Amino acid sequence: MISMAKPFIGEEEINAVTAVMRSGMIACGAVVTEFEIAFAQYGEMAHGVATTNGTTALHAALLALDIKPGDKVITTPFTFIASSNSILFCDATPVFVDINPDSYLMDADKLAEYLDKNYDESMKAIMPVHLFGLACDMPRIMAIAKQYNLKVIEDCAQSHGAEIDGKKAGSFGDASCFSFYPTKNMTTGEGGICLFKDEEIAKKARKYVNHGRVDQYLHDVLGFNYRMTNISAAIGLEQIKRLDGFNQKRRFNAATYNELLAGQDQLVLPAVNDGYKHVYHQYTMRLEGASRDELQAYLKAHDIGSAVVYPFSMTEQPFYKDRCEYDCDDVAQSHATKVLSIPVHPGLTEAEVSKVASTILAFFDAK
Ligand SMILES: Cc1ncc(COP(=O)(O)O)c(C=O)c1O
Repeated sequence: MISMAKPFIGEEEINAVTAVMRSGMIACGAVVTEFEIAFAQYGEMAHGVATTNGTTALHAALLALDIKPGDKVITTPFTFIASSNSILFCDATPVFVDINPDSYLMDADKLAEYLDKNYDESMKAIMPVHLFGLACDMPRIMAIAKQYNLKVIEDCAQSHGAEIDGKKAGSFGDASCFSFYPTKNMTTGEGGICLFKDEEIAKKARKYVNHGRVDQYLHDVLGFNYRMTNISAAIGLEQIKRLDGFNQKRRFNAATYNELLAGQDQLVLPAVNDGYKHVYHQYTMRLEGASRDELQAYLKAHDIGSAVVYPFSMTEQPFYKDRCEYDCDDVAQSHATKVLSIPVHPGLTEAEVSKVASTILAFFDAK
C-alpha cells in the first residue's frame, strides 16, 4: 500500500530520546526551552511556547491575546475542526468567511467585504489557516486586520516552512500556532507550539499552558496543563534539522504530479501564485465532471491511499449549527464534495509517485 503519510524517525531522533530518558528529566524542562528557541528562530518570531499539540497551542494563543466569552473570531470554514474548536474553547464565536476557489484558503476579498458590511466591536481577531502547506494572502489580511484593529492568529498546523516572498508563514500575525502530529511536515510525536512577537503576550501564553501559574502554587487565571515534554522536544530538535529537506522532497513530488497529471482536464491541480512557497502538507486535487469517490475507490483497489481533506465545510458540522456565524460558504461546501488528496510525503520513491500518477491517468482512460 502506498500510504498517505509516513513519519521519518532516524537514529538521531532515537538517540536524542534515549539521552533524555537516561537523564531522568523527561517532563517539561531544558530540552523544551531549547526547542522553543530553535523553532521560534526557524519561524522568524521572537518567542515560542511549546504545547501538547496544535489544538492546545491555538487555545493558549487565543487566551493570551485576550479572546473572551462573547467575542467573535473570523476564520475559514474549510479546515480541520481544531481551528474553530479552539475559538469555542474560549466561549467565543467562530465567524466563517468563504474560501477562495483556487487556493482553498480564506479569501481576502470576501473578508474585506464581510467586515465592510458586518463589522461590530465584538469582532476581535482573524484566524487564517495556511491549509495544505500554502500560505494565505497575509499581506492583505494584515492590512485588513490593521484597518479594523483585529488581532491575527495564524494556524500553521499544515505549513511549517511555507513562505511568501521569502518570509515565513506564521511570522506575519500576532501569534502563530503549529502542530507536530506525526502526519505533519515535521513531528514531535504529539506536540505543538505557539509563536509570538510580543514578550508579554508570550508570557501570558506560558502561564495558560502551565495551570495559570505565576509562582509556585500561586495561580491568577484558570490555566491548563498543556506542557510539552522533554521527550517530544528532543524529537523536535532533530526534526527541525530535517524540515527543509522534507519540504524539498514534498515539493519535488508535487512538481512530478503537476507534470504527469497536467493534461487531464477533469482534474484541477493545486494553484500557487508567484512568490508563494508551497510545502505540500497535502497534494489536493479537485475533480470537475468526474466522481471523486470513484477515483478514490479505484486508487484503493490499486493499493494506493488517498484522503478526502475535508468532506464537510465547518458550517455543515452538526455541533456548529447554533455556535457559529457565516455569510455564505458555497465554495467551501462545493469543494468539500470534489477534493481528493494523494500521497506526497517525503518517504515516497520516484517509482511510487509515478505509480500514483499513472493509476490516476488509467482511471480516466478507462472511462
Ligand atoms: C489546520 C489544523 N489546525 C489545527 C490542528 C490541530 O493540531 P493537533 O492535531 O496537533 O491538535 C490541525 C491538526 O490536524 C490542523 O490540520
